[in-house]
Amino acid sequence: MTPRHFLTGAELTAAELDVLLDRALELKRSPLSSSALAGASVALIFQKPSTRTRVSFEVGVHELGGHPVVLRSGEMQISRGEALRDTALVLSRHVAAIGLRTGDDATIEELAAHSAVPVINMLSARHHPCQALADLLTLREAYGALDGLHVAYVGDGNNVARSLAVLGTLEGMHVAVASPEGYSLEDDLSLPAGAKGLVTLHDDPYEAVKDACAVYTDVWVSMGDESAAEERRTALAAYRVDDALLDAAAAGAFAMHDLPAHPGEEISAEVLYGPRQRIWDQAENRRHAQKALLELLVAPA
Ligand code: CP
Ligand code: NVA
Repeated sequence: MTPRHFLTGAELTAAELDVLLDRALELKRSPLSSSALAGASVALIFQKPSTRTRVSFEVGVHELGGHPVVLRSGEMQISRGEALRDTALVLSRHVAAIGLRTGDDATIEELAAHSAVPVINMLSARHHPCQALADLLTLREAYGALDGLHVAYVGDGNNVARSLAVLGTLEGMHVAVASPEGYSLEDDLSLPAGAKGLVTLHDDPYEAVKDACAVYTDVWVSMGDESAAEERRTALAAYRVDDALLDAAAAGAFAMHDLPAHPGEEISAEVLYGPRQRIWDQAENRRHAQKALLELLVAPA
């Protein structure tokens, strides 16, 4: 049987995503109630650093009764030239799913092409769909139904922004993305077939946040972008989420950030550590959302 992968988020239907978010809320209320991974192991391969993704997956697999096998790619034979194909074939004989964090989308696509078990994107250059699951869970906790919700993303049009757009539109959200020239998301985002929401691209952050119930931002210098760090900080300097920007959004709007944050750059310290954010809830929600994802992919009801 062909395994179900989760590489961009567009693999889910809107109905599946709804069920997944409801299930994540149940698992949040009762974290040890599922033994969906009893007797199973999950490989988690990191080609880039991670704090939240590693811990939320490792603890989440454990809570589901499974065993997480955390692998740093530098310690694997991949680092000495073993083919991804061979790695996929071997891991498939041992584990029920493979998570991969990598810099190149072609790498995860190749691993998935040869894996007999589900492959989960734990972040690539273009996508961070596990983060978007936690983001939607956080919005659902705050606002209930996501259909028609207007959320702004301010800053670099990167993997986090793209995944918010892909999964948010599947839920019917309006995702307004404000970025400076040269840092925008592409016009022709390949949104999922069932996407009923809307993505709008803006230059002006104040225009994007008008009527938004949440204002999201991410780092200006993603992993792999370090060589252009100063140029990026200059270009993105006017795209900081601070109290003034939140004041221009809908009443009660809160800030979101996938973390790690750089207070004073893309977000002010006042907002990051103040009452107008749900950022630390987002970080927790990674675990609950990913557990629901693992149940769906590995142990479907
Ligand atoms: N948000 C996120 O993916 O964090 P890490 O890089 O720490 O995993
Ligand atoms: N856009 C960031 C997200 C980190 C979780 C990066 O790719 O480095």
